[in-house]
Amino acid sequence: MLDQPMPTPSAPTLDQNALARALSGHHFIGGRFVPARSGRSFAVHNPATGAEIARAAEGDAADVDAAVVNAAAAQKDWAKLPARKRGALVSQCAALIGAHAEELARLIALETGKALRTESRVEANVVADIFSFFGGLGSELKGESVPFAPDVLSVTVREPLGVVGAIIPWNVPMLLMALKIAPALVAGNTVVVKSAEEAPLAVLRICELMNRILPPGCFNMLSGFGPECGAPLVAHPKVRKVTFTGSVEVGRIVAVAAAEKLIPVTLELGGKSPMLVFADCDFEKTVMGAITSMRFTRQGQSCTAASRIYVERPIFDRFVAALAEKVNAMVMGDPLDEKTDIGTIISEGQFEKVKGFVAEGAATPGAKALVCSALPTDPALKKGLFLQPHIFTGLTRESRLVREEIFGPVTCVFPFDDAEAVLAEANDSEYGLAASLWTNNLKRGLDLAHRLEAGLVQINQNLVVQANLSYGGVKSSGLGKEASLEAMQEHFTHKKTIMVNYG
Ligand code: NAI
Ligand code: MG
Repeated sequence: MLDQPMPTPSAPTLDQNALARALSGHHFIGGRFVPARSGRSFAVHNPATGAEIARAAEGDAADVDAAVVNAAAAQKDWAKLPARKRGALVSQCAALIGAHAEELARLIALETGKALRTESRVEANVVADIFSFFGGLGSELKGESVPFAPDVLSVTVREPLGVVGAIIPWNVPMLLMALKIAPALVAGNTVVVKSAEEAPLAVLRICELMNRILPPGCFNMLSGFGPECGAPLVAHPKVRKVTFTGSVEVGRIVAVAAAEKLIPVTLELGGKSPMLVFADCDFEKTVMGAITSMRFTRQGQSCTAASRIYVERPIFDRFVAALAEKVNAMVMGDPLDEKTDIGTIISEGQFEKVKGFVAEGAATPGAKALVCSALPTDPALKKGLFLQPHIFTGLTRESRLVREEIFGPVTCVFPFDDAEAVLAEANDSEYGLAASLWTNNLKRGLDLAHRLEAGLVQINQNLVVQANLSYGGVKSSGLGKEASLEAMQEHFTHKKTIMVNYG
C-alpha cells in the first residue's frame, strides 16, 4: 500500500475535468507521482473543444533512467513471487479497473474525443477483461521435459526477460497498453510505459490504480515526446525487451535501436486492411459490418480499419448507397453526449493529415466522395476536430488513399469481377495486419482466408482484438503477436534449459 497522499480521488469519480487536472504534471515512478526532473510539462487538449484540460510531465532521459532503475530494482522480488500469485494480483487490478470503468471511459473520451457510448466505454471494459484474462494465466508459464539421455533429466523453464519498455499510441491507449503490460507482469517482468503525447491521462490513472495493488516499481509510467522520452527508453541498457505500437516509420527506428542492443522487440504497426464483399453475402449484415470494420465510430483511427473495400460488381452500387445511408445517419457530436456515435480526430496534426488525403482524393479525376454525417452545430464545439466520414469510389489503385494508412474516417470502395483478381489486389499492399471477407460460400471463404496475407482474417465479422486470440501482422504491419497465452510465453519470457546428470 502507498503511504503518500495522492493528488487524485481515492474513489471512482465521474468528474473527468477535475481528474485530468489532478493527474497533471506527473510521471508515476517507484510507486509515486513525481514531476519531470526538468520541471517541464506540455499541454493536453480536449480535441472536441480545443481547451487545455491538463499538463503532462515532459519526460527525458533523466526520468527514463529513474523509472528503469526503479523497475529493475523491483523486478527481482516480483519474479520471485509464485507465478499464480502474480496473476492473482493482476486479476485484482482487473477488478479495480472494472470498478473504475465509467471514470476511465469519461477520461479517455475527454482526452481523445472518442465517443463515450460507442467507443470509450467499450475500451474501458475490454481493458478490465484483458487484465482478467492474463491474470488467470500465471500457472500456464510452463516449460517442457526434453528426452536427452537416460540418467539426464533435461527440462526447460520459462524465465522473465527483466524490465520491459512499452511505447503506446493514442488511438486505444488503455487497451493497447493492457495488451503489453498484463502479460509482461504476469510473466515476472516489470514495466516502464511511455504514453502517447496526445493521450497521457487515462493510462496514468490506470497506473496509479494498479500501484495500489502491485509492489512499488513494478509498473512505472512516463509521459513525453518520442525522440526525447521514447528513444532513451528503448536505448536504456537495463531495458531488456521493447514492445511498441504506432507508425511504421517509428517502428523501424525502434527496431534498429533494439537491434543495436540485441534485445527482442514486438511491433504492431498498423495496416491497410481489405474487406472483400461477395454478392452472396448477407447484405444487411455486411453493410453494418462495413461500418464496424471501418471503425467509423472511432473516426477510422484504427490499425485494422477496413480502408479498402472491394465489392462484387452485381451489388456494388446498392452496397455503396446503403453504406452511405447508414453512415449518414450516425450522429457526430460531443464525445461525452450519450447520443453521439462519432467524436473527433485526436489532434490538429492528424486532422490536417487526413484532410490532405481527402483533398487529394477529391482532386482525382473520376473519383467521387460520398460525404456523410452532419457536422455538429453546437457553438461550444466550433473548434472541435470533427471530420465527416468520406466514402470514395472511382480512385485508381495507385492512389495514396489506397496504398497508405490514412487513420481517419476515409474508406475507398472498388467493384470487382473475379475472386482471384481481387485476392491479388488485396495482397498488393505493404501491410498485412487484418482482412475480412463476407460470403455465404464458406468453401470459397476459407480458401481465400488461407491465401490472404494478414495476421488476422475474419469471415462474416470483423471484430477488434480479443483476449485469447493471437493478434499481430505480417509484412510492414509488424513483428510478433499480442493478446494470447502464446504471446505471453513467446514474447515476455525466455526458455532456459536445465540439465541434471544423475547417473
Ligand atoms: P508515432 O509512431 O509517431 O507514435 C507512437 C508512439 O511512439 C508515441 O508514444 C510516440 O511518442 C512514440 N515515438 C515517436 N517517435 C519515437 C522515437 N523516435 N522513439 C521512440 N518512441 C517514439 O505515431 P503518430 O505520430 O501518433 O501517428 C502517425 C501515424 O501512425 C498515424 O497516422 C497512423 O497511420 C499510425 N499509427 C498507427 C497506430 C497503430 O495502432 N498501429 C497507432 C498510432 C498511429
Ligand atoms: Mg509521430
